[in-house]
Amino acid sequence: MTSTSTAVRPVESVGSAPVARALPAWVYNHPALTPIEYERIIKPSWQIVCHVSSLARAGDYVTLDLGADSVIAVRTSRGDIQTLHNVCRHRGARLLEGAGHCPGAITCPYHGWSYRLSGELLAITARETFPAALDKTQLGLKGVRSEVWNGFVFVCLAGNPPPLTEIWAGVEGEFAPHRFAEMQPLGPAYLEHWDCDWKVAMDNYLESYHVPIGHPGLNRMFTPDYDDQVNFPGVARGISWLRERPSPRWSERLYQKLAVEVSAGLPEAHRRRWSFTSMLPNLGIDVFPDQMDFFQVLPRGAGKCMIRGQSFALPDERREMRIARYLSARINRQVQREDEFLCRRVQQGLASGSYEPGPLSRLENCMFEFHEVLRERIPELREKSPPARFS
Ligand code: FES
Ligand SMILES: [Fe+2]
Repeated sequence: MTSTSTAVRPVESVGSAPVARALPAWVYNHPALTPIEYERIIKPSWQIVCHVSSLARAGDYVTLDLGADSVIAVRTSRGDIQTLHNVCRHRGARLLEGAGHCPGAITCPYHGWSYRLSGELLAITARETFPAALDKTQLGLKGVRSEVWNGFVFVCLAGNPPPLTEIWAGVEGEFAPHRFAEMQPLGPAYLEHWDCDWKVAMDNYLESYHVPIGHPGLNRMFTPDYDDQVNFPGVARGISWLRERPSPRWSERLYQKLAVEVSAGLPEAHRRRWSFTSMLPNLGIDVFPDQMDFFQVLPRGAGKCMIRGQSFALPDERREMRIARYLSARINRQVQREDEFLCRRVQQGLASGSYEPGPLSRLENCMFEFHEVLRERIPELREKSPPARFS
């Protein structure tokens, strides 16, 4: 239990003004936390598995590993999408890896039990060696709660979060003209390993206070998104507007020009902006005039995380669109490398015993909301140092 004497107060007073504080350093680097975070935060939330375009034909599948769990999303022979635990009902072997195609059935690589794409147990090898009364209908792959929202397949492994349409209701209208569900991937999904805690990476995404200093290229082209931000419970959206003043760099200047030209099918305002949306606890959705992407930040042990994401766009082979997409991907790669660099430096600084949680700007209020969710689900995070039972 938390005791007030050792707890960090998330909001303190400076004079008469309240000031929020960052989380204590230990919570960003403790090996006991990863399994707890999966159980209390990641599993009871919606997690993206893939876009529907990755499941175009019956038998196409994508897996998502979430801590100790793994989930399969597969297109069935009936044409619907099924989401299943990736665990054989015989002795538990992991059935599928990554993404691919399994024609007709899912077959276990260990003893060969096979399952229909909808999950029912189809056949047991050497059936006669098992009791005749064995009920196959009780041995199908276990299902996982799922929803398809705007063309993305989400799963939820525990708890009862609200439906995605409800969570995203505040920004749904802004996404509509981009037609995510009709998009195709611009490339394969990526998985990056960063040397920082997943909360450092999410903190970074949830505040754009760092943009003018940490992302000089982005700042030359766009206004910071904290000037145009809306917050809903669990969802925040910021918009960076293309600056009228052309960037002094030719490639940035070219993108400023092309982004508006190639996106004539979008409402005027959408042609001039990059929007950055987050859904707590760990999802980002970025929407640009020429493409969109998602990324998901996943815990991977003390001081480490994985970033999983993919970019999508409507089919469009125009030369100008190809150039615009090339340039925006290049800008985003640069921003991603800058963020990784900054997050690594935060992780390094948090390891120093000299660090005390600093005061937060109001530009970091989405990050503070994230911390409130963390503190609510894991009350131990209020402690100045790790509770004895964590060591
Ligand atoms: S563990 Fe899958 S068939 Fe034995
Ligand atoms: Fe950043």
